[in-house]
Amino acid sequence: MVEQLRLHILVVGGSGGIGFAVVKHLLSELSRFDFLDVHVDATYHSQQPELENRRLSWHKVDATDEADIKRLSCEFDQLDWLINCVGMLHTLGLGPEKNLSSIDPEFFLKNISVNTLPSLLLAKHFTPILRTSDNPKFAVVSAKVGSISDNRLGGWYSYRSSKAALNMFIKTMSIEWQRTIKKGTVLALHPGTTDTALSKPFQTNVPEGKLFESSYVAHQLVDIIRTATPDKSGHFYAYDGEQLNW
Ligand SMILES: NC(=O)c1ccc[n+]([C@@H]2O[C@H](COP(=O)([O-])OP(=O)(O)OC[C@H]3O[C@@H](n4cnc5c(N)ncnc54)[C@H](OP(=O)(O)O)[C@@H]3O)[C@@H](O)[C@H]2O)c1
Repeated sequence: MVEQLRLHILVVGGSGGIGFAVVKHLLSELSRFDFLDVHVDATYHSQQPELENRRLSWHKVDATDEADIKRLSCEFDQLDWLINCVGMLHTLGLGPEKNLSSIDPEFFLKNISVNTLPSLLLAKHFTPILRTSDNPKFAVVSAKVGSISDNRLGGWYSYRSSKAALNMFIKTMSIEWQRTIKKGTVLALHPGTTDTALSKPFQTNVPEGKLFESSYVAHQLVDIIRTATPDKSGHFYAYDGEQLNW
């Protein structure tokens, strides 16, 4: 008989294209891997998604607000995985910069605030809770364009910088976890170009077969998180399992 394992997961940004697909995948698929008792907590910022399940709880959270993250953390006394899917690429008025003359201070700070800061706040307030797990995992959805060594095209100053800062944070956090939570795994993940509201304005030049459905990406990312062991901590992985250079 299979031993019943309880798994408690928090998906931050569970209302987004990728985050919502991750929530649905966790609820439907994880039971296939001996995790017979999965509970998912998920956050939204604007509007609560219309998905109800007895193993799912929704929370309204502004992930850029420390008081909100702290309040959320107080609702947990145990957690196994935290997956941060929050992010932005464009606002109503502005998109990624093509050149230096397009740089806008507010847009830059908005990118840092949404793409970088939430992971710092989540790590600060959830590390003491994740520590209670036998196999804690902290995973963030980053982007390959945040890789400094891979940058050949230039442009997208604010988004690239915010994701490069996120990547540096993940690497740095993994070093602290290696000392303090040896059984823990910290990961940065690249989802590939995924058909969501975030990528919508930039899908025309995506090569054939390289624009992924969010359900496929969710399956791939959850598999990477599920199978990752502490020796993989502090690494950056693409949706297909390839390890990316920082
Ligand atoms: N799609 C792609 O092609 C692609 C490629 C590479 C990397 N990524 C990364 O993947 C992640 C998910 O992107 P996506 O495509 O799923 O984007 P999306 O559909 O636009 O979802 C963005 C998510 O971020 C949440 N969010 C934004 N600001 C927030 C705030 N202040 N507090 C809390 N939540 C906030 C949104 O919440 P509400 O909807 O409730 O406001 C939503 O859940 C992002 O980090 C993105 O950079 C995406």
